[in-house]
Amino acid sequence: MNAAPVEQIEQKDARQAAIWAPLCYRSLRSLLFRMDPEAAHTLAIKLAPLAAGLAGGPFHDQCLSTKVAGIKFSNPVGLAAGFDKNGLLTGCLARFGFGFAEVGSITGQSSAGNPKPRLFRLVEDEAVINRLGLNGEGADVVAKRLTGAGYSLPVAVNIAKTNHPAVRGEKGVADMLHSFGCIKDLPLAFVTLNASCPNTHEGIMQETEELDQILAGVQALNHRQLPVLLKLSPDSTPELLETFVASACKYGVRGYVLGNTTTTRAGLSTPADIVQKMGNGGLSGRPLKAKALELVKRVYKFKQKDQDIIGCGGITTGADAYAFITGGASAVELYTGLIYGGPDLPNRINCELARLLKSNNQTVETAIGTGS
Ligand SMILES: Cc1cc2nc3c(=O)[nH]c(=O)nc-3n(C[C@H](O)[C@H](O)[C@H](O)COP(=O)(O)O)c2cc1C
Repeated sequence: MNAAPVEQIEQKDARQAAIWAPLCYRSLRSLLFRMDPEAAHTLAIKLAPLAAGLAGGPFHDQCLSTKVAGIKFSNPVGLAAGFDKNGLLTGCLARFGFGFAEVGSITGQSSAGNPKPRLFRLVEDEAVINRLGLNGEGADVVAKRLTGAGYSLPVAVNIAKTNHPAVRGEKGVADMLHSFGCIKDLPLAFVTLNASCPNTHEGIMQETEELDQILAGVQALNHRQLPVLLKLSPDSTPELLETFVASACKYGVRGYVLGNTTTTRAGLSTPADIVQKMGNGGLSGRPLKAKALELVKRVYKFKQKDQDIIGCGGITTGADAYAFITGGASAVELYTGLIYGGPDLPNRINCELARLLKSNNQTVETAIGTGS
């Protein structure tokens, strides 16, 4: 008897896992949700390599392959920045079905971030509010780790400015360039410059002059022509977005991650007094979806043709991914959906997205922007 090809076996495993994994996660989730959200995240990072061994493996379908800045991904569902801040999971993320992942944000200096508590669940809304404030081990340490690490999928690194009142102006630019210098020779798919973290002393970037200096500095250091993307905020005014995109075009930026968390609180089911007690921070998850999709559609209209968009914000289903892709995104990313949906979510999104694409006689690449 002939053995089944590896891809067929993996496919069967992925389908079986798609059935039992959400059931298993439901029990684990009730335990995790009794823990402090940040402690639960630390545990999830520790358990991920083990869980990867039990996961069904990635769901494959030709119609899912896509390209961002010329780099090919086997599927368009990526891990958003913030989950694997210190680059501990690059060896195992493909097993959960991700097509690519962003490590970071990394910052020039190591940082403990903002005082705790700083991460809150809004269970009724399938959302979270975070004001972690860019905690991390720092660019040198993460770059060293990524130098020796195995990559199970295309890996990107997201760079932000160290969150310290003294790191602003020229020092802020130097800090970003230091981080870029640390990672520029790694075998990365792309680098994202984060101009949109709301949880820092300065808040989201407002100054084009500062962005210009960072982009010029990166361009001068970028001898290997690593694709550079810019991560923008759903809270930016249309005018600021247009100015940032013009700046990005001037310095050869290859695309945009759209986008980061929002500081707005409209349309939540969680009672207002509870939300207020949680305090400042960026909101992510389901309530962010409409705003993020609007941002994708807006930027799709005025970006350069050869620049690509990665959509991000509240994506939890294949239909969500399809809406972002037809809205103009070449790929999508998620974070908060994993907290509520579990580690098999990328596979479930990919299965459903493949079905949707086929029913419309499309592939990811032919569907991009068809609804915009
Ligand atoms: C706890 C947490 C930490 C985050 N940290 C970062 C970060 O360090 N850098 C960054 O660019 N985005 C960060 N983000 C934003 C996410 O990458 C993403 O843009 C946002 O959460 C919207 O996607 P989602 O609704 O799928 O979570 C973080 C989000 C969360 C929830």
